[in-house]
Amino acid sequence: MYRIKQFIWALKSEINYEDEIFINKYLNNKELELFFKLSIMDQKHSLNTAKDIKKVCEGRNNNLDKNKMIKIALLHDIGKIQYKMNIIEKSLIVILNKLTKGKIKKYTKVKCINIYYNHPIIGYDLLKQYNYEESFINTIKNHHNNDIIKDMLELEILRECDNKN
Ligand SMILES: [Fe+2]
Ligand SMILES: [Fe+2]
Repeated sequence: MYRIKQFIWALKSEINYEDEIFINKYLNNKELELFFKLSIMDQKHSLNTAKDIKKVCEGRNNNLDKNKMIKIALLHDIGKIQYKMNIIEKSLIVILNKLTKGKIKKYTKVKCINIYYNHPIIGYDLLKQYNYEESFINTIKNHHNNDIIKDMLELEILRECDNKN
């Protein structure tokens, strides 16, 4: 049911004026250039993740660096700019991933499979040429890594907000 909801959201996604103000507030020119290379669907997803992170940073985790967390959220899927998946490809991979229990992961020559599984590391490689602190790019690199979630609050919160959107 949740997947169906996500599918409908994706079809309806668009970036409005208010969204643009939000994005402009937290990203610099270089980051904006990267962000707008994402598909509209991924822009909207990253934006919604960032808005949720903002709430968390203003609420229960107000000790965190809010600007940094919002920037991480806006850029967490930036690896996806390497190949823009359409909604059909995305839905198909989600289903195949379930059916094969992730076994399709090895077919990295297929662009959409590679992006689906490896966009965190692709994003990390892309961002590491700029001057981000290690914890910033590492959070992006590990946002789908189930193994190292313990004791990493920033990562935990990114994942929580990512999964909601
Ligand atoms: Fe992701
Ligand atoms: Fe995401």
